[in-house]
Amino acid sequence: MALKRGRGAATPPFLVMDVIAAANARAASLPPGAPAILRMEVGQPGTGAPLGAVRAAEAALRGRLPMGYTEALGLPSLRARISRHYAELFGVTVDPKRIAVTVGASGAFPLAFLAAFDPGDRIAMATPFYPPYVNILVALGMVPVMLKAGPETRFQPSVAMLEALDPKPDGLIVASPCNPAGTMLHPDEFDAIAAWCGANGVRLISDEIYHGLHYGAALSTGAGRPGVMVINSFSKYFSMTGWRIGWMVLPEDLARPVEALAQNMVISAPHVAQVAAEAAFDCAAELDANVAAYRRSRDLLVAALPNAGFPRLSPAEGAFYLYADVSARTDDSQEFCRRMLAEAGIAAAPGVDFDRDRGRHFVRFSYCGPEADMAEAAARLAGWNG
Ligand SMILES: Cc1ncc(COP(=O)(O)O)c(C=O)c1O
Repeated sequence: MALKRGRGAATPPFLVMDVIAAANARAASLPPGAPAILRMEVGQPGTGAPLGAVRAAEAALRGRLPMGYTEALGLPSLRARISRHYAELFGVTVDPKRIAVTVGASGAFPLAFLAAFDPGDRIAMATPFYPPYVNILVALGMVPVMLKAGPETRFQPSVAMLEALDPKPDGLIVASPCNPAGTMLHPDEFDAIAAWCGANGVRLISDEIYHGLHYGAALSTGAGRPGVMVINSFSKYFSMTGWRIGWMVLPEDLARPVEALAQNMVISAPHVAQVAAEAAFDCAAELDANVAAYRRSRDLLVAALPNAGFPRLSPAEGAFYLYADVSARTDDSQEFCRRMLAEAGIAAAPGVDFDRDRGRHFVRFSYCGPEADMAEAAARLAGWNG
């Protein structure tokens, strides 16, 4: 007799991870001396944790600190440091009691969704989207509602799109800067969306993981706005991807529920990573040098890719992604990326991961790899006719 399987067992893969595996396999099979595979599929900094964070972790380990569980919402000193970050950056007062340290932003999603929503609730977001939003919501029995966004709104949601929804959603997820388009909600747009959510009783979740990686447009935060849940992480600007450490800013009514969920689901985020993360706040010079390198790679690619057959790029406002409309070259972005890897030795992410319908016409290039590789990629793409 067939045994029961839960809806979570049907969760689709995160396709970028499959592209990474294909690029690894291709790199391993290259003959000695062959040109290296250029990695533009991964969304993680090639730089390691900043030195100050590494030293803090070393000192903690050498001092034989017990490294036990911390409180479920995190080390009080780290929560206080995160609170100070909002005061310094945005002039916003956030009570450390409303800050939850999490296992990356990824670990924050189930906590946030379970605390805020019930199975059957409808949660809106712009398409293209970061795939785990949808996959986690569906696994939890919640219903993603897609707001089809294009170049007219820089692939971001708008109040007009929300107004057109009937019935109104229970929640909305926004990301600014976003993945995969690398675009931002400008402050007036963010304000209007937050006001609309407030007026319509829609719980706003603001994914701010790419804060710090932006190249001109002003930043907005949901912190300090009533009812809004903010998600952030040490994986991107702070360059600590594998340390698996992130945080949430919670509305007052959800702080205790998230604490209870975290106590049951993870007990706490890794202790040593919390110690290192706190020190990372004092490493701005090193981290800002990384951002300057991303900016140079971005400038180079934005100038070079249109002449290399990629004229339709999303405005590269933040994060480290360029979302290229390749509809003039293919109807199948997965096959296009396979050929790009095989023929040009460049790994990039097909848009189908982020937009199951229009994604076949898009490719995401990530430019967080070494600067020299990004320059080499531009040159190789110029010579590739795939
Ligand atoms: C928009 C967005 N949110 C969340 C995450 C998850 O990041 P982490 O779990 O490493 O903090 C990512 C990772 O790429 C992302 O792009």
